[in-house]
Amino acid sequence: MNPRIISIKNIHDEAEGDLSIFEGSGHDLPFAIKRIYYIHHVPVGTVRGGHAHKQLTQLLWCPYGSITILLDDGTDKAEVKLDTPTKGLIVEHAMWREMRWEQEGSVLCVAASEFYDESDYIRDYAAFQAYVKQQARLP
Ligand code: TYD
Repeated sequence: MNPRIISIKNIHDEAEGDLSIFEGSGHDLPFAIKRIYYIHHVPVGTVRGGHAHKQLTQLLWCPYGSITILLDDGTDKAEVKLDTPTKGLIVEHAMWREMRWEQEGSVLCVAASEFYDESDYIRDYAAFQAYVKQQARLP
């Protein structure tokens, strides 16, 4: 599996610091952004996630700290460490993911292609494997 990592545009100023930016709708991301959320105040060592989505595509980035994203497409697995504010990871639909907090104060930000919809989640790993197999059989 080749995780889709993007380099977020960054404007660096020696005296004033950095400004990082991305735009949706085909500019920097392949989708229009309908929702942004962020996960914070998570104890180090916590593993969140443990689900996949049927339709949703997301960009994950970590503006502060270090968080490892574990990806599993039903066949292959990969790990991506988000530990710099300009590194983004695009997570497609039908991708099981877990997120491991590795540094105190780490923040995980997510830009999502759809509004929140609990029925888009697959929260059971065996159901995820069955879903991937079923999708592969579709014409
Ligand atoms: P969840 O996506 O399961 O978080 P994680 O994968 O990090 O553990 O969401 C946690 C809870 O928050 C769950 O009850 C659903 C709710 N939630 C919303 O209500 N709206 C949202 O946009 C998101 C992402 C989650």
